[in-house]
Amino acid sequence: MSVELAKNVYWVGVTDWGIRRFHGFELSVHRGTTYNSYLIMDEKIALVDAVWSPHSDEFLAKIREIVDPAKIDYVVVNHCEPDHSSSLPMLMKLCPNATVVVSKNGASSVPGHYHENWNFKIVKTGDRINLGKNELVFVEAPMLHWPDSMFTYLTNEAILMPNDAFGQHYATAFLFNDLVDQAELYEEALKYFANILTPYTDKILKKIDEVLALNLPVNMIAPSHGVIWRKDPIQIVKKYQEWSLQVPAPSAVIVYDTMWNATEHMAKAIAEGLIERGVDCKVFHAAASDANDLMVEIFKSKLVVLGSCTYNNGILPSMAKILTELRGLRFKNKVGAAFGSYGWSGESVKEIEENFQKSAIPIVKPGIRLKWQPGVADLKLCRDYGRELADSVR
Ligand code: FEO
Repeated sequence: MSVELAKNVYWVGVTDWGIRRFHGFELSVHRGTTYNSYLIMDEKIALVDAVWSPHSDEFLAKIREIVDPAKIDYVVVNHCEPDHSSSLPMLMKLCPNATVVVSKNGASSVPGHYHENWNFKIVKTGDRINLGKNELVFVEAPMLHWPDSMFTYLTNEAILMPNDAFGQHYATAFLFNDLVDQAELYEEALKYFANILTPYTDKILKKIDEVLALNLPVNMIAPSHGVIWRKDPIQIVKKYQEWSLQVPAPSAVIVYDTMWNATEHMAKAIAEGLIERGVDCKVFHAAASDANDLMVEIFKSKLVVLGSCTYNNGILPSMAKILTELRGLRFKNKVGAAFGSYGWSGESVKEIEENFQKSAIPIVKPGIRLKWQPGVADLKLCRDYGRELADSVR
């Protein structure tokens, strides 16, 4: 069922209750997601963003509740990632003369995906399209989070449609921020930010300043995933400003993997040392945890302590995934330390430390390596190591 957001502005998106892995299998989405699309009925009819192709039929049915798709004049593609654009080929068959509005980089990514000779119109920041009573105003937002990303603003109703920015992977019965559980909403908004947007925090801060400087009224922020921010919509902008500064809590997170528990015993002893010194500390077994959830925990904490036993002259696969994510997300204002057990060759600690360096996370203290199962003296060494790490958190 479509939802009227404001006079003649409709949500015609799709709620995907069932999805649990996104971006292929890269990202966990425990609470499903939505693909939001907005239909604006004016003298000219505009559609802002589309949905993922498996949901095309439901999407088109929602448009048909309002209007015959053949009457659409403009299809705005704020961003070409397939979750927002892969239903376009089916839609465009129904409105082949519609103008497809893209950013300069969208003029490469959209044909690059669909190889169709649609009627493209390239817009840049400040460009406007007059729909009759309302105008669409465009703001390019490259690398938030693709080169093609842009925001579309609807005048009069004052609705900002920033595509992925300010979104959440969060399927809900109700579409608005004031109608959902606030703890769940912010948990999903932060997970989305930490796992998708962290590499671009400098750009986010600049873009927010640029948009706020326009002094446009904003009644709603309508992203392409999750709920629409209609109650105090600027609250999520302020949260993005806060998260973009990446000021971590004075806490520690220990993530490890283990084969016969030696590295796990080390993890617990290091945690005891930190806790003895009053440091809030969480411990996670990587192989039994969700890597994207762990990225949120790492995002929040100052000290990141990573451990693996040595396995085939390296580290265990679950820890390799953690290190890959860390390198890509480029968290700021963190410090790191490594530990691990070994039987004969013992390369795991060196490999973790090399990855800290590649992630620009300074190592506060050389890592601790223990051979075979830790004994009483070894565990004391780990507790002492934890106590010494505590100073780096404050
Ligand atoms: Fe929701 Fe970048 O796609």
